[in-house]
Amino acid sequence: MGQKRDSGLVPQPPSLCSQDDREVNAMADTRIPPTEVGAAAARIELVGLTKRFITPKGDPFTAISDVTLTVEPGQFCAIVGPTGCGKSTTLAQVSGLEQPSAGTVRVGGQLVQGVTRGVSYMFQADSLFPWKTVLQNVMTGPVLTGTPKRQATPLALDWLRRVGLSGFEDRYPHQLSGGMRKRVAMAAALINEPRILLMDEPFGALDVQTKAIMQTELLQLWEQLRPSVLFITHDLDEAVALSDRVVIMTSSPGTVKDVFDIDLPRPRGDVQDIRHEPHFQELQGRIWSSLKDEVDRAYRQTAAAA
Ligand SMILES: Nc1ncnc2c1ncn2[C@@H]1O[C@H](COP(=O)(O)OP(=O)(O)OP(=O)(O)O)[C@@H](O)[C@H]1O
Ligand SMILES: [Mg+2]
Repeated sequence: MGQKRDSGLVPQPPSLCSQDDREVNAMADTRIPPTEVGAAAARIELVGLTKRFITPKGDPFTAISDVTLTVEPGQFCAIVGPTGCGKSTTLAQVSGLEQPSAGTVRVGGQLVQGVTRGVSYMFQADSLFPWKTVLQNVMTGPVLTGTPKRQATPLALDWLRRVGLSGFEDRYPHQLSGGMRKRVAMAAALINEPRILLMDEPFGALDVQTKAIMQTELLQLWEQLRPSVLFITHDLDEAVALSDRVVIMTSSPGTVKDVFDIDLPRPRGDVQDIRHEPHFQELQGRIWSSLKDEVDRAYRQTAAAA
């Protein structure tokens, strides 16, 4: 993906986090009462969204074309599609970090024309501040939005406890494992109690076991706060296990090909367990049938361009 989104530039500060493979149940007694479902969440509406770039050679290039999609308040929506189809580009338009070439993005009914308030964005690349400690990283959002440090500190400590990282407050990101950094990032994103959470392949680089733990943790935290989520992944199991809705994008230029409603009951519990349910496998199979043609087409496009 383009370097622009790897820069650490965030609409609301990124979060850092986490401890190696601490058990998920470390958070069990730290839950806050669920907020009224969707009370703070915002609807995301994309209509005819198109983004064109100028390539380094000066040619116009359409990354996404006529993307129309609604995420209801409090809904967890996954986007899957072949590499290069425009998933990260779509998220960047929702965040307001980029402006669409055509079409509109509305968040909570308001047209997005600059950095969108109430949005936390976990980038595809690690986006912790390397010069800040774990605690300082998690505090960044509240401090930037005017919360005095004496209030932000206990808040950040509480979020570190929720993600199982108590005791790691004084570490720097390079002193953490990849899974721990993702936990810090989740804490830093969720401490802002966002209306919208944008997650771009947040667990893509993790090993299978850590990924499963992180997915279960994310679901627990999301069920407490219930922001609207746009979650990009290449992992269909992950998309089905976490989401209310899975959107398939076509190969480049990306547009919406199919939308699948995931009617698995919530709370979903441990994502490792639901993967074995017959309905899960049936949904996964239907989604793969839709996606595989696009993956093949993207591969042929890349081969032809080479
Ligand atoms: N700033 C830019 N200038 C020119 N082209 C860009 C820019 N940003 C993205 N692109 C192009 O837009 C297309 C979509 O990129 P994007 O990063 O959105 O893909 P993606 O679906 O997120 O891919 P991946 O799954 O590999 O992360 C790619 O061909 C990419 O090269
Ligand atoms: Mg991407």
